[in-house]
Amino acid sequence: MTTQQPSESQIAVHWREEEYYQPPSRFIGQANASDPVIIERFSEAHFPECFKEYADLLDWDTYWHTTLDTANPPFWKWFVGGRLNACYNCVDRHLAIDRNKAALIWVPEPESEQTQAITYQELYQRVNEFAALLRDFCGLNVGDRVTFHLPMVPELPVSMLSCARVGVIHSEVFGGFSGVACGDRIADSGSRVLVTMDAYHRNGELVDHKAKADEAVEAASKLGVQVDKVLVWRRYPGRSSSPTPMVAGRDFFVDELLAAFHRQRVEPVSMPAEAPLFLMYTSGTTARPKGCQHSTGGYLAYVTGTAKYYQDIHPEDTYWCMADIGWITGHSYIVYGPLSLGTTSVIYEGVPTYPDAGRPWRIAEQLGVTIFHTAPTAIRMLRKLGPDEPHKYGYRFKHMTTVGEPIEPDVWRWYFHTVGKGEAVIVDTWWQTENGGFLASTLPAVHPMKPGSCGPGVLGIYPVIYDEDRNVIEAGSGTAGNICIRNPWPGIFQTIWGQPERFVELYYSKYNTDPESKDWRDWPYLAGDGATLGADGYFRILGRIDDVINVAGHRLGTKELESAAITVAQVAEAAAVPVMDELRGRAVEIYIALKPGITSSKEIEEKVVESIENQIGKIARPKNVWIVADMPKTRSGKIMRRVIASISNFADVGDITTLANPEIVDDIRHQVQRAK
Ligand code: PRX
Repeated sequence: MTTQQPSESQIAVHWREEEYYQPPSRFIGQANASDPVIIERFSEAHFPECFKEYADLLDWDTYWHTTLDTANPPFWKWFVGGRLNACYNCVDRHLAIDRNKAALIWVPEPESEQTQAITYQELYQRVNEFAALLRDFCGLNVGDRVTFHLPMVPELPVSMLSCARVGVIHSEVFGGFSGVACGDRIADSGSRVLVTMDAYHRNGELVDHKAKADEAVEAASKLGVQVDKVLVWRRYPGRSSSPTPMVAGRDFFVDELLAAFHRQRVEPVSMPAEAPLFLMYTSGTTARPKGCQHSTGGYLAYVTGTAKYYQDIHPEDTYWCMADIGWITGHSYIVYGPLSLGTTSVIYEGVPTYPDAGRPWRIAEQLGVTIFHTAPTAIRMLRKLGPDEPHKYGYRFKHMTTVGEPIEPDVWRWYFHTVGKGEAVIVDTWWQTENGGFLASTLPAVHPMKPGSCGPGVLGIYPVIYDEDRNVIEAGSGTAGNICIRNPWPGIFQTIWGQPERFVELYYSKYNTDPESKDWRDWPYLAGDGATLGADGYFRILGRIDDVINVAGHRLGTKELESAAITVAQVAEAAAVPVMDELRGRAVEIYIALKPGITSSKEIEEKVVESIENQIGKIARPKNVWIVADMPKTRSGKIMRRVIASISNFADVGDITTLANPEIVDDIRHQVQRAK
């Protein structure tokens, strides 16, 4: 992390604070945690044993002997000696009482297609059959990795749970990522099997997805990893919806293979608590994505406990998180947390605003959704396109979650009054791919809500804000600093897959004072966000302090974007910077300087956009590409992205006297600000 980088927190907007809302009494009366005494039970004096309360929500094959092992910091081990199976906990254990209850309700995008309810019994059957296929047809064993590139279909949770059943580590790549991005992740994880789907519906289109599988296999092969089998679920079993041909001997339609596994049963494999459950890739400070490795016991305990207390999930709720399962939110709070609690979890295909901005509210009304979870970007979009739509539908939420980016108080108020009809409590949950589950939030029946602030650390999490010299920034000082978590917790990722040194370096080295220390207090976890702490103990997250841009709640690495841009032959240098965006919170702008003798053209700009879409995916599409005469640089030749970001955001560029070419700043400012 250097001061050369643009930082989201530097361009954060400041808004009015100190406005509180009390949780509705209807909510408090039925909440899983309404007695503030729970906060004391999770206080530092009871650490780490307090997390036994979460682990006891699970069924263990063997109980653990050590709650937290700190022998090898910061590679913490939770619930050591314990054994369990995540699929058993999310499926089998609910059969005795709830076999006929819907585990999943799937809403396809075309409104003419029937919504599908999949009971716990049906889920059990589907998971057993696919687990048998993975084991017996693919020859997969405990500890092998499998990459999924699946859209929002029930086959995705079925595939995840099937892997968990046989101890295979799944790695789902968000369906919107390009084939090349998927191939990078296949290679990094060393997966020999790719599970994908032929096609899916999005925004009124039936998208050909199989084509991306071919690109992914090719990209992985260039990186030295050969995919032996591509399993293709069909959006419409029995007929293919993709024009992309199947490769003989490599590609197989899952529905055809499954015929041989009809009604097969696979015993859930009893896994050590510390066995990896899945990998989830996220963007970081280099072009190589980071495979965050999550554990079985600690992770499942943490998502189950936080889903119970912070989302207030009861088995009789109908719960809908609108995130994509391809992100950590979907893993933790569509699949593992809600199913572990035996509730009904809704998943939907498509986007919130197609065919119109009433769709989410129609679904909520039809299914009787009681708990609703989404991101500020979706809320902003729904407010813009259908400010009065929620009034037209008769749903009744008791609880709503927001996650992924800071929510402006104004947007929060619309969420509360219009979407929640003033009756639902809201939790603004701050956390990250690396964390497994929530880190800061109000406890919904206990703490008042404050628009724009996520709240205090959640149960058993002790955050702190440090300045650059490790001084603690005091509550109420109004000063921003780096938010860290002082203690380990069960949901924290175990390592970066294949890169343990990078794990220590990126997350634990900045504020560690003694690398030999075995005391967890010496190993604060650096989250990578700027934050302030109010006098009331509520944190407000300002945005990333590193080279990561959070677009619509999705993390994009500036290096990944720049690497994609410079693959265009005419481009000499590229810089990716965040800009404020009314709907998506932040958007990406790319600045490029061309090789000598090349003249600027619209065609080059288009090529840069195309290259970014091919290498990463449409979500990374830049808002603007600016071809500039030169980049502002330090005397040692480093591009000053911070200066560029300031220009793009009409902010003060600060001191530029130390630049090698200060005159370029005015040129770029004229070019860009005049055009905007
Ligand atoms: O900058 C923070 C922002 O999203 C980042 C984590 O992104 P990701 O790993 O993709 O996980 C997103 C969903 C858990 C954080 O570093 N962020 C997440 N939640 C919030 C947030 N910013 C402000 N408020 C939040 N509630």
